[in-house]
Amino acid sequence: MDNKEQKLSLKREVGLAGAVSLIGGTMIGSGIFMSPQTVLYTIGSPGASLVVWACCGLLVILASFCYAELGTVIKESGGEYIYILRTSGPVVAFLLIFSSVLFVRPAGVVGISLSFAQYVVAPFYPDCTPPVILVKCVAATAILTLATVNCLNVRFSMSVQVFFMVAKVFALVVIIIGGMVMLVRGHDENFEDSFANTNVGINSIGIAFYQGLWSYDGWNNLNYVTEELKRPEVNLPRAVVIAISLVTGLYLLVNVSYLTVMTPKELMSSNAVAVTWGNKVLGSWGWIMSVAAALSAFGSLNGTFFSGGRVCFVAAREGHMPDILSMAHVRRLTPSPALIFTTIISLVVLIPGDFQSIVNYFSFTAWFFYAITMCGLLYLKIKKPELPRPYKVPIILPILVLVAAVFLVLAPIIDNPQIEYLYVSLFIFSGILVYIPFIHYKLCPGLLTKLTLFLQLFLEVAPADKNL
Ligand code: ARG
Repeated sequence: MDNKEQKLSLKREVGLAGAVSLIGGTMIGSGIFMSPQTVLYTIGSPGASLVVWACCGLLVILASFCYAELGTVIKESGGEYIYILRTSGPVVAFLLIFSSVLFVRPAGVVGISLSFAQYVVAPFYPDCTPPVILVKCVAATAILTLATVNCLNVRFSMSVQVFFMVAKVFALVVIIIGGMVMLVRGHDENFEDSFANTNVGINSIGIAFYQGLWSYDGWNNLNYVTEELKRPEVNLPRAVVIAISLVTGLYLLVNVSYLTVMTPKELMSSNAVAVTWGNKVLGSWGWIMSVAAALSAFGSLNGTFFSGGRVCFVAAREGHMPDILSMAHVRRLTPSPALIFTTIISLVVLIPGDFQSIVNYFSFTAWFFYAITMCGLLYLKIKKPELPRPYKVPIILPILVLVAAVFLVLAPIIDNPQIEYLYVSLFIFSGILVYIPFIHYKLCPGLLTKLTLFLQLFLEVAPADKNL
């Protein structure tokens, strides 16, 4: 109990520095080591790929300004779930939590773990693609290890975060410095005629953004914990500007470095760009990049597990989630039911999933709900102008973000439609089939109570005051 109280009071103390690292730490992970080749491949030219990376940064900065207003008007923690609940109502909010618990979060876990696995095995297969089954087994091992660590001990998983943060920033800075040295020495031939062969198809632009935006995902992380932030009206907007501009700057420079060192062809055919980069620049020390990139992904995976229970907790408070998912272990205080649940689904998603498609479906679903959140902000601005707003954005911002989000969701559907996006959409809306009988009409309450009781005894968990 002691431990817990100390923890809660600690958590209410998130200041500016903590807030910046909370955002930056989630954003930097697997994407910048996995997506540059796909962005380049889909968009076709080095110049356009840098423009895509810059525009992704701009889009998430604008979106996070809008979230800052939402976070100061609707002060509860819970991110888009709570904003959608308060503006669009319980049905849409349920669809969000339904897709998030069953697909978006596990997909995030799988994407990051695949990146980790790719970098762990890359040094052993210098000249060929590693066997898929091996990559998946390594990914599964990482998921199971971190799930276990996070079920056993909160402290440990928190303290290792700093170590991983150092690893990722180190990797990015090494890549940037290496690239700059090469550029200064005059290796700029890959930037000649840098917009030649650009693909301007709607689908290419959409997919390139999906891949880029995956690397930026996590920009909204602070909105999940607004209740724990000191002076949110000041620190929320400040933290997002600092963190997102830093990350955007780093990502752009890293891409410039990749493009300086590798020809577009080499970049596109690489399975693990940072390793190819390392082999070319650091020679026999190239392996160090694979270690750093693997650690970066491992750290993000840990962070994703760690922050997972929160939204479930808020949703369970609203009766949208089985209570069991918001409970914590009686002694360890870890949200083990939610962790175990996410682990099981992640392992299922891992079996058929490959990094690129997982990232595309992830971004599709995420931006679908960001669009609805923007509609919520517009609704509040137009219909409830009287609400106190310590922080305000001009109405044009949510409109711009909404237009971009609608484009992102529709782009891969209208141009070159793939059946998978239909499945993902059907899945999102199938939440209604669960909502109507079980939440609206509250059918079979006894069934869930019995199951909850059984699982509570089995897992030794109890309702927590505040989820971890
Ligand atoms: N931006 C992260 C990366 O590049 C992925 C974040 C996944 N989303 C999340 N909420 N953890 O690895």
